[in-house]
Amino acid sequence: MASSDNPYEVAYTRERSARLKAEQLLEDKARELYFKNQKLEESYKQLKQQQALTMQNEKLATLGTLSAGVAHEINNPLAFVLSNLESLPVYKQAFMQLLKFNQGCINDSSMPSQFREELKQLIEREDLEFLSEDMSGLIDDTVEGIQRVKEIVQNLRSFSRTQGSDYVEADLLEGISSTIKLLNAELKNSVTLKLDLDPLPRIVCNPNQLNQVFLNLIMNAKHALADSSKPLIKVTTSVCDEIIHIRIADNGCGMPPEVLKEIFVPFYTTKPIGQGTGMGLAIAYGIVRDHGGKINVRSQVGRGTVFDVELPVSSDMRKTDTDRIGTADV
Ligand SMILES: Nc1ncnc2c1ncn2[C@@H]1O[C@H](COP(=O)(O)OP(=O)(O)OP(=O)(O)O)[C@@H](O)[C@H]1O
Ligand SMILES: [Mg+2]
Repeated sequence: MASSDNPYEVAYTRERSARLKAEQLLEDKARELYFKNQKLEESYKQLKQQQALTMQNEKLATLGTLSAGVAHEINNPLAFVLSNLESLPVYKQAFMQLLKFNQGCINDSSMPSQFREELKQLIEREDLEFLSEDMSGLIDDTVEGIQRVKEIVQNLRSFSRTQGSDYVEADLLEGISSTIKLLNAELKNSVTLKLDLDPLPRIVCNPNQLNQVFLNLIMNAKHALADSSKPLIKVTTSVCDEIIHIRIADNGCGMPPEVLKEIFVPFYTTKPIGQGTGMGLAIAYGIVRDHGGKINVRSQVGRGTVFDVELPVSSDMRKTDTDRIGTADV
């Protein structure tokens, strides 16, 4: 009997080939599942990152609205406090004249002695001589304090873009050069500045505001270099795919992840009280966002930091959605 006629063998061969097919199918499905799972994990990771960015953006937008309101409310009382303070030195002059006249009376023997004694006691009791000396210092300190409050309010207003903005066509290299010139005195003895500036296309922007961004970033780099043995700031410009890149890199102290994730938050600073407002990067963030750009940051503790400002060449590319927001890579 031929082997193919053997019903057992036929059944066995059929069963075997079906089993092999099933195994192959299972393997294919398992592989497919594995790749799909990998893709899913990847998408989940991306989604989480996007969600974190969106949340950060929303947080900053809310803070922007809040700051605009607060800045507006503080601005009016601030104006009259400053104006009142300006009158005080004039009033002080009148008070000093009166004090001088009284002292003259005390020393004037032609004046009734009881009057002179009462005047003397009054001046001593109220410590008027000390008050007159202390008043100038108090007024100066108060004016300085109020000036700082004014600066903070101005910073808040630029962060929350309440001021009208003047957009003109400008060459950003000119702005970068003038900012560097402005900082030259500040930098030349303490930091090596390396420039690698590719020509940039002219763009419609608010050059003053963008200069403020460059200034804030370079000043931060300088502060980060305070304890460096070979302090270096590198400013690079380039254009790629219709996006202008302005990179400001330093080999300073760098930032740990917990600092890096807070740096764009208004008033966040690691500097001692009175030395930093913590508004530098919040303002830079607001300005770059208004230009449809974003700021990327990479930093490593002890090695340095790179801030990469991206600005679209064409104003058509300017969007304010979550595509173009700042990120801090740890
Ligand atoms: N290049 C840098 N290297 C290291 N840390 C930095 C750098 N730039 C910013 N930082 C960190 O980010 C924080 C926030 O910076 P931001 O410019 O907003 O405020 P600030 O510099 O502290 O204050 P201000 O700008 O008013 O002087 C800084 O306190 C610092 O900790
Ligand atoms: Mg700063």
